[in-house]
Amino acid sequence: MSSATIDACSLPLRSRLCDCASWKALLAHHRAIDPVDLRAAFHAEPGRVARCTTTGAGWTLDWSKQLMQPTTMGLLLELARERQVPERFAAMLAGARLNWTEGRSVLHTALRAPASATIEVDGRNVVPQVYDTLQRMARFATALRTGAWLGATGERIRHVINIGIGGSDLGPAMAYQALQPWRTRELDCRFVSNVDGNDLTAALDGLDPAQTLVIVCSKTFTTQETMENASSARAWLVSRLGEAAVGRHFVAVSTNEAKVRAFGIDPDHMFGFWDWVGGRYSMDSAIGLSTMVAVGPERFGELLAGFHAMDEHARTAPVASNLPVIMGMIGAWNASVLGLPALAVLPYEQLLARFPAYLQQLLMESNGKRVDDHGEPVSWPTCPIVFGEAGTNGQHAFYQMLHQGTTIVPIDFIAFRTAAHPLGRHRLLLNANAIAQAQAFAFGRTGDEVRAEGTPEALVPHRTFPGNRPSSFLWADALTPSSLGALIALYEHSTFVQGIVWGINSFDQWGVELGKSLAIDVIRALDGASPSAAHDASTAELIRALGAQAT
Ligand code: F6P
Repeated sequence: MSSATIDACSLPLRSRLCDCASWKALLAHHRAIDPVDLRAAFHAEPGRVARCTTTGAGWTLDWSKQLMQPTTMGLLLELARERQVPERFAAMLAGARLNWTEGRSVLHTALRAPASATIEVDGRNVVPQVYDTLQRMARFATALRTGAWLGATGERIRHVINIGIGGSDLGPAMAYQALQPWRTRELDCRFVSNVDGNDLTAALDGLDPAQTLVIVCSKTFTTQETMENASSARAWLVSRLGEAAVGRHFVAVSTNEAKVRAFGIDPDHMFGFWDWVGGRYSMDSAIGLSTMVAVGPERFGELLAGFHAMDEHARTAPVASNLPVIMGMIGAWNASVLGLPALAVLPYEQLLARFPAYLQQLLMESNGKRVDDHGEPVSWPTCPIVFGEAGTNGQHAFYQMLHQGTTIVPIDFIAFRTAAHPLGRHRLLLNANAIAQAQAFAFGRTGDEVRAEGTPEALVPHRTFPGNRPSSFLWADALTPSSLGALIALYEHSTFVQGIVWGINSFDQWGVELGKSLAIDVIRALDGASPSAAHDASTAELIRALGAQAT
């Protein structure tokens, strides 16, 4: 990194992870200990669960079933201290340009800061702009919810279509599902992201354009998928209601006013945000407009308050009782020391069915990096493959592999004590499954136990569960707007902790660029259905094969 860039960060360049004394101590510890046997570890330490339980902002994490000795977490926290996690977190909150490869501050926490806070970017307090936008969003959302905002023909809006992709879709879509119990029944929201025309066609199916409002969400307002979907939605509307109707049926969320204007949306109907909000950290900015329309400004405020509660916990709690630090360091241990290549996120809550998909972008776009701040390839594994499914559905799909496969996959269980829609014994059964699965992954079933059940000897190996599959169990009292906000902030900050430890920039995403730029050439070739000499033989053949039908 050049000294000019270091100055821009206003932070000293860190040493490489591999040169840190606490990292070397951690690796030595790993070499010295026998593989952790969770049955033995629980037997040897009656207080293990109490020692390995951390709480913050309404959430409790039981990490006693991680593959750690009693001294392991102390060494991990020493590493967090040596990497200056608390100092870097404070710097992020204060607006330091931690996203140094793009020269940007990282201030999603300002989106949920109190109105009285002062957070400066380039000498200007950004908090008043945040509140100004929130108030404009609230006025618009209320007008839609009450029917004060009418479509071009004077009809009430009954359907909202959010068009966006990545961070401009996953957070709003996830939150819409998660907050179903709080949403108005006066209108519904649909989400369109894929450039595949089937996505938009399905979303528009059965809708009356006179009752439909489209929110085009794009930070850049140049993203190909979003602009294609927005143009087709516009054509659908104009063909039925005429050009003059666009102003009453399209609004935009973006940082790019010129492009919004060029698309034909009045900047008065544009809700802005700022380059210091990364796409995957933007669901609590104006990108959350559909969320606010669905649940109302008051509940949206509770969502933001939940985010802020976790921000405050992360800022003030000592590392040893800091939930994002503990969670982040567990992830670093599993990925980089134990070399476990994946993370399964298993919400035992149907309303969080889209949460694993949301986390895929948050974790993998943030920390899927191969060079560190020094531009050197890292010699330690970074972000794991993140996947998941709502329990109990996953149990009947991929848990077989998790229990008895050859790859050990760490797991985050997520559960709630109570249900938003209590129904008979459903919640009890759901939570019983979550608890029992965590038990099975940790402690398994030995060959002797299987034999003792009278199992024929030939089947014993097949019915044995090795156990020692690490998991954390994260739970809260109830899924509410506030607890959802805190949960998302917890994953945001544990992702940050890992990025700091690994010495990578968690806030850029250069890895998405190459495919995007090559697609421009392929589109040209498909348009003419002929490859150019610049295309390799395989690409050229695919262009020939698919070009004839692609429209
Ligand atoms: O996937 C790349 C990415 O840039 C994400 O970071 C972002 O959330 C998404 O594309 C959408 O970008 P935009 O909001 O600018 O349309």
